[in-house]
Amino acid sequence: MSARPGRASPPRALWADSLFDHLTTRVAVCDAQGLCLYVNAAIEDALNLARRRLVGSRVSTWVVDPAPLQDAVRRVAAQEALRLRLDADLARVSSAGEPGSAAPERAVHLIVSRFDADGSRLLIEWQETGVQARHEREARLQVQAQAHKELVRNLAHEIGNPLGGIRGAAQLLQMQGIAGEGLEAAQLIVHEADRLQSLVDRLLAPHRGVLHIGDVNLHEVCEHVRRLVWAEYAGSVGIERDYDTSLPEFRGDRERILQIVLNLVRNAAQALQAHDFHGAPGTPGAPRILLRTRAARQVTIGGQRWRLALVLQVEDNGPGVPEDMRERIFDPLVTARAGGTGLGLTLAQAFAQQHQGIIECRSVPGRTVFELLLPLP
Ligand SMILES: Nc1ncnc2c1ncn2[C@@H]1O[C@H](COP(=O)(O)OP(=O)(O)O)[C@@H](O)[C@H]1O
Ligand SMILES: [Mg+2]
Repeated sequence: MSARPGRASPPRALWADSLFDHLTTRVAVCDAQGLCLYVNAAIEDALNLARRRLVGSRVSTWVVDPAPLQDAVRRVAAQEALRLRLDADLARVSSAGEPGSAAPERAVHLIVSRFDADGSRLLIEWQETGVQARHEREARLQVQAQAHKELVRNLAHEIGNPLGGIRGAAQLLQMQGIAGEGLEAAQLIVHEADRLQSLVDRLLAPHRGVLHIGDVNLHEVCEHVRRLVWAEYAGSVGIERDYDTSLPEFRGDRERILQIVLNLVRNAAQALQAHDFHGAPGTPGAPRILLRTRAARQVTIGGQRWRLALVLQVEDNGPGVPEDMRERIFDPLVTARAGGTGLGLTLAQAFAQQHQGIIECRSVPGRTVFELLLPLP
C-alpha cells in the first residue's frame, strides 16, 4: 500500500532521537550557560540517572571538578574556540542517592563543540578513556583464552598418555610383592601420578562437555553461593546483597554460572581471610563482600553489541589483587595463594565466554570488584 498523499515520513527529529539512543557514544546538548537540554540513552546509563533528571541540570555537576568543563562551555559559547577537549572524572551520581551503588569514578574525555551558528546550543561528546583500552584488553583475553585452550589440550595429551603407563608400571611393582623402600617408592609414584592426572583433568574441564541450557535465576544462584561460602567461612565474612530484583531469568547452564559465582566469591573470602582487619563485625572496617546485580543497556562484549546484559559485581574490601599480577590473573596457574591452583579465574572466564559474557576486574586496596557481564540475546 502506498503512502497517502500528504502523509510524510515521520519527522526527522523522531528517528534522529532514537538513532542517538542506539549510539554507544555518549552525547549531550547544553545551552550557553551549561544547562543540559538533551542526553542520549548512553549518558543515562553512564550516569545511572533518568533523562528527565538530567535535562535541566548543570552539565558541569556530572564531573568531579566542574570548573574546567564550565569554562570550556563558556569559551565555546562565546566563540573563543570552535571545539575544546578536556579530560575529567565522572562524579558519583546515582538515582536513589544510595551510597556505593553508583559506578566508581571513571576517567572520561570530553569534546565540547558548537552546535548551531549563534552558539546557543553546544554539543558535548564524551568518550570513556578506558573504552579503547578495554576493547584491546578484551580482544587480548579472547586470543589468550584460545591459545590456552590449545596449549592445554596438547599438554594434557602429551602428559596423559605416558602418565597412564607410569602409573600402571608402578602398580605392577606393588603387585609383585616388593616391600620396604621399594614399595613406598611405588606407592609414591602412583600417588603423584594421580595428582598429576587430576591436574590435567582440571585443566581440561572447562573445554569438556556440552552446556546444559535452561532457565537460570541469577539471584537464586547468588543466594546458593552465599549460603555455601557463609558455611565454609564459619560466618566470619559478612556477605551483603544489593540485588535488582526486576532482573529477568536468562538461558544458560546453571551449574557453570554457579561455578563462576562460587569461584569469585570464594576468592574474595580468601583474600579477606588472609588480611588483618581491625573493624568489628558489622562496622565499615570489618571484612565484607557485596553481591550487586544490575541490568546494563547497550553493552559491547568482545566486539559484539547487546541491547541488554545482566551484571553481577562481587565486591570486597580486602587488600586487592597484587599489582604485578593484575594483568595475568585470568591466565592458568597464576596464583598468589599458598595452596592455590590458579585455575579458578581461568575456569570462570572460560564459562563466562561460553555464555558470550566476560569477567573483568578492577582492584585497588580496599575495593576489589570482579564484574560478570552476561548478555541477554
Ligand atoms: N578478590 C580478590 N582479592 C585479591 N586477590 C584476588 C581476588 N581474587 C583473585 N585474586 C588473586 O588472583 C589469583 C588467582 O585466582 P584464582 O584463579 O581463583 O586461583 P587461586 O584462587 O587458586 O589462587 C589469586 O591467587 C589471588 O592472588
Ligand atoms: Mg580461586
